[in-house]
Amino acid sequence: MQTRGALMIEHRLIERMISVIQRTLKQIESTKEVEPALIDTVVDFIRVYADRTHHGKEEDILFRELSKRDLSAEDDKMMKELMEEHIFARQTTKALVEANNRYRNGDSSALKDITNKLGTLVRIYPVHIEKEDKSFFPAAGAYFTDEEDQDMLSEFKEFDRNMIHERYKQVVERLEGK
Ligand SMILES: [Fe+2]
Ligand SMILES: [Fe+2]
Repeated sequence: MQTRGALMIEHRLIERMISVIQRTLKQIESTKEVEPALIDTVVDFIRVYADRTHHGKEEDILFRELSKRDLSAEDDKMMKELMEEHIFARQTTKALVEANNRYRNGDSSALKDITNKLGTLVRIYPVHIEKEDKSFFPAAGAYFTDEEDQDMLSEFKEFDRNMIHERYKQVVERLEGK
């Protein structure tokens, strides 16, 4: 397994969640309502898995190592675009959380903001993933030896190992009111 294989496996799960979101959008269209707890689950996946765990490994390990290399102007530009897209996904998710809270508190007009933000996630993730799978990861691979790639893969494993602890520490801290 190479680093890009590990990241591509995660992309396949993110795509499955995008399909779930598409299905949810169709349901909202026909019923004109949504279960706020379902949006909480979608947000939890996007934040903890897609962003913290997946984008986390890309930014904190792969992009960090690439930043030490003499990247071509094209690859450097692509990496910056990908980082911008991670930021945009984070902002979209934050706006989704806010809309969901308004909706839960009785503001039915927030439903259109929820569908709007879910629609944005459906639009941006597949394009981002395709750019990484087809263009960026193959280009990035050329900057590393097999050994360097395996070192990053080990770091990925350590990063993932820490995630479950970080996640549940947060849960306890939130319940403690910190
Ligand atoms: Fe990414
Ligand atoms: Fe990715």
